Amino acid sequence: MQIMNVGVLGSGDVGRVLAAGFAGLGHDVKIGSREPEKLKDWAAGVGSHASAGTFEEVARFGDLIVLATLGVATTNALKLAGVQNFERKVVLDTTNPLDFSGGMPPRLSIGHDDSLGEQVQRMIPNARVVKAFNTVGNQLMVHPHLPGGPPDMFICGDDAEAKKLAAQVCEAFGWGVIDIGGIDGSRYLEPMCLVWVLHGSLSGQWNHAFKMLHQ
Ligand SMILES: NC(=O)c1ccc[n+]([C@@H]2O[C@H](COP(=O)([O-])OP(=O)(O)OC[C@H]3O[C@@H](n4cnc5c(N)ncnc54)[C@H](OP(=O)(O)O)[C@@H]3O)[C@@H](O)[C@H]2O)c1
Repeated sequence: MQIMNVGVLGSGDVGRVLAAGFAGLGHDVKIGSREPEKLKDWAAGVGSHASAGTFEEVARFGDLIVLATLGVATTNALKLAGVQNFERKVVLDTTNPLDFSGGMPPRLSIGHDDSLGEQVQRMIPNARVVKAFNTVGNQLMVHPHLPGGPPDMFICGDDAEAKKLAAQVCEAFGWGVIDIGGIDGSRYLEPMCLVWVLHGSLSGQWNHAFKMLHQ
């Protein structure tokens, strides 16, 4: 994988873990927030490959963009970032449309015949969106070490070249890759996040990840 400018939209755990992961691989990373000042110390701690900016600065900066914003606020984050700044770029969409208003477990605010991945792709039609990293907790996203070996990251998206890059990223972070097809596969990957969450709630442990076994 070539060294890239990676823009990470999102200041939460996922944004920070993936931004640090990309910086660790030698990529130049800019992580974004509506209040980028709060990320300055964090970026300085990651090192010279990391900086912080507004959502718009991040979207302009990235050759590859990671979307790691609150699911129900993701369309607003894209507007703040400027949809024109995503033209032809590969976008790794980690988001899940979780609605916590009724407590735990959250319900999906979109589903069955649409998904957040598809909404994101419709908002930025000239970008190449790949759903990835949404089916595992942030603690295991980068270099997971599990007794059963490397887990599998399920991905989907409409552009084959974009999925090739997404797969390279997953592999560089220590994952196998399972491609399930077009971006409408997000209808199935987003609920899969709840399978992960429900097992965690029941077991009280958050150290699991999916793996597909083949004969
Ligand atoms: N946490 C996990 O382990 C995990 C695992 C897999 C997938 N995911 C998914 O990954 C995404 C990020 O999760 P997270 O836990 O790291 O963080 P999060 O708390 O879900 O999202 C934080 C980000 O959302 C932005 N945001 C919140 N409200 C906004 C609004 N009204 N308009 C624009 N932006 C807004 C925040 O902006 P500011 O920086 O300005 O506050 C911040 O950058 C979510 O969609 C989540 O479902 C999470």
